[in-house]
Amino acid sequence: MIIIKTDAEIELMKQSARLVSQTLTEVATMLKPGVTTLQIERLCSEFIRDHKAIPSFLNYRGYPYTICASVNDVVVHGFPNNVALKEGDIVSIDFGVILNGWHGDHAYTFLLGEASDAVLQLLRVTKDSLYKGIEKAIVGNRVGDISYAIQEYTERKHGYGVVRELVGHGLGRSLHEDPQVPNYGKRGIGKTMKENTTLAIEPMINMGTKDVYTDSDGWTIRTRDGKPSVHFEHDVCVKRNKALLLSDFSIIEKAEQANSNLNTSYYTGKVAAV
Ligand code: MF3
Ligand code: CO
Repeated sequence: MIIIKTDAEIELMKQSARLVSQTLTEVATMLKPGVTTLQIERLCSEFIRDHKAIPSFLNYRGYPYTICASVNDVVVHGFPNNVALKEGDIVSIDFGVILNGWHGDHAYTFLLGEASDAVLQLLRVTKDSLYKGIEKAIVGNRVGDISYAIQEYTERKHGYGVVRELVGHGLGRSLHEDPQVPNYGKRGIGKTMKENTTLAIEPMINMGTKDVYTDSDGWTIRTRDGKPSVHFEHDVCVKRNKALLLSDFSIIEKAEQANSNLNTSYYTGKVAAV
């Protein structure tokens, strides 16, 4: 059952999502070669506690950390570790908070230093596909319209692998609510969306095969062919003409562009993803 939120609840959810965005902005500021994902874990966990929020991933179904740090061929659910990040790494940071009882859950992928055009294009296409999905998150559309838009652009247009095993989801007082929001599917199927439905839309897009496997730690999801994967996630609220973004990439992007250790050249269109 999809739980529709009141306007007051949407306002609270926006605060939760914005806190995640602010934390990812802190990450964008400190990222550089040599930093470890455990350092990022500590920063995120301290930052949100200072803001009176609690981490939602920690202990969720036994997940042992505050953030998911997924580097290169890791798709999602990577454990933070002591390995120094290096030039060329593709680093997805996903995490969630509970603030005033409401969940925020979103993710952003950073690129450290030089990278091939193929990697830059994967970043661009994945981020763009998220917005193509969000465009469909309006009253009267079906959930399948979001799924189709993402798959159409990433898989059919660009030949990337759309991960099947993991999906986006409703969000609210729980981290995972109805409906599921796959990044693949048919137009015109699934639930019809009503105003103030809140969704976490999160394309997980592989450069190569869509196939993944779970590491021996029971959590880390990797691409079967070892090629890179990118993950962007926004929290959105369904509205009549245009979805309302609860999370905010603009502050993250500003910090990312101000950090010379991070590569944002895929913003420019040179590696166009038409
Ligand atoms: N964004 C992911 C999701 O919505 C993160 C969950 S990780 C977990 O499913 F540790 F909480 F499971
Ligand atoms: Co999510």
